[in-house]
Amino acid sequence: MSRRLSGYRTGANRLRVTRLVDVKPVSPTVKSFRLKDSKCAGAKPGQFLMLWIPGVDEIPLSILDGDGREWVSVAVKNVGAASCALHNAKVGDVVGVRGPFGNSFGNGSGVSGRRLLLVAGGTGVAPLLFLVRRFLPKRVSAAFVLGAGTKDELLFLDDLEGLKKKGMRFFAATEDGSCGALGLCTEPVERLLTEEHFDLVLACGPEPMRLRVLELAEKLGVEFQASLERLMRCAMGLCGSCVVGKYRVCVDGPVFNSSQLREMKGEFGFSKRDFSGRKIPLG
Ligand SMILES: Cc1cc2nc3c(=O)[nH]c(=O)nc-3n(C[C@H](O)[C@H](O)[C@H](O)COP(=O)(O)OP(=O)(O)OC[C@H]3O[C@@H](n4cnc5c(N)ncnc54)[C@H](O)[C@@H]3O)c2cc1C
Ligand code: FES
Repeated sequence: MSRRLSGYRTGANRLRVTRLVDVKPVSPTVKSFRLKDSKCAGAKPGQFLMLWIPGVDEIPLSILDGDGREWVSVAVKNVGAASCALHNAKVGDVVGVRGPFGNSFGNGSGVSGRRLLLVAGGTGVAPLLFLVRRFLPKRVSAAFVLGAGTKDELLFLDDLEGLKKKGMRFFAATEDGSCGALGLCTEPVERLLTEEHFDLVLACGPEPMRLRVLELAEKLGVEFQASLERLMRCAMGLCGSCVVGKYRVCVDGPVFNSSQLREMKGEFGFSKRDFSGRKIPLG
């Protein structure tokens, strides 16, 4: 089936009205939300959904987890109208969902049996935590580097520390030194990439970080994939809001490999489109 049309053919694009079944604080600015939706419950790591907050807006969110049958969860940072309304929502409140949309890490073939280096910052941890939870039992060797400004902003720290028992190595870095290494997460990434062999580096988080990790992976000849965030409205390849170079992030991504990212030179790491379609510098 063509990925470009998968939203139509699988019915993923149909808006389903559902309810929040769990709401939990994750950090001072981030909460996780679980909702009932059998379609998104079967999503693959890297895919995203569109969440409609009635009367406010519909926003794209990476899938944090799903049980394959009934529920799906997301982690949301309170940054504006829709995310703030969601932060004020309670268990039982009505929301709408479309999806799952987009491709997944590993280009559909998964990442089983590979040596992975995962690099995350901010809410970018969500799809990579989903991936590592799903693939650790499947002969994956993983090192996970998580970066943030302060310890408070290191999301899902306990979950990631807990995965050490399952064989994952975990490294934290904070800009104020309140947890893990002092400085940017790209510093431990550079050390790991220089000292060890990895088959694949996966990054999700602030775009300057993704750009730096791409440069490091390319220098050392390691395969690289990153998940991109751009303005999204239709999520089906129709409106053009999410265009970067020749790609529409919603249907061709959100996960892209090194050669695709190289084709986006001058845009990846530097610019995005605003609601009127103009290119503006990344904030
Ligand atoms: C594929 C993808 C996955 C994402 N995953 C997550 C996630 O897991 N957790 C999370 O907290 N955030 C995620 N985001 C970002 C999230 O969609 C925005 O923070 C949210 O849309 C902000 O909406 P708002 O009304 O709260 O804020 P607004 O005040 O409307 O916007 C604040 C900023 O959010 C961005 N934004 C606003 N509307 C959109 C939109 N329709 N599409 C994309 N960006 C927008 C813009 O940069 C804007 O400047 C993801 C974005 C994309 C594209
Ligand atoms: S969000 Fe409309 S084309 Fe991607």
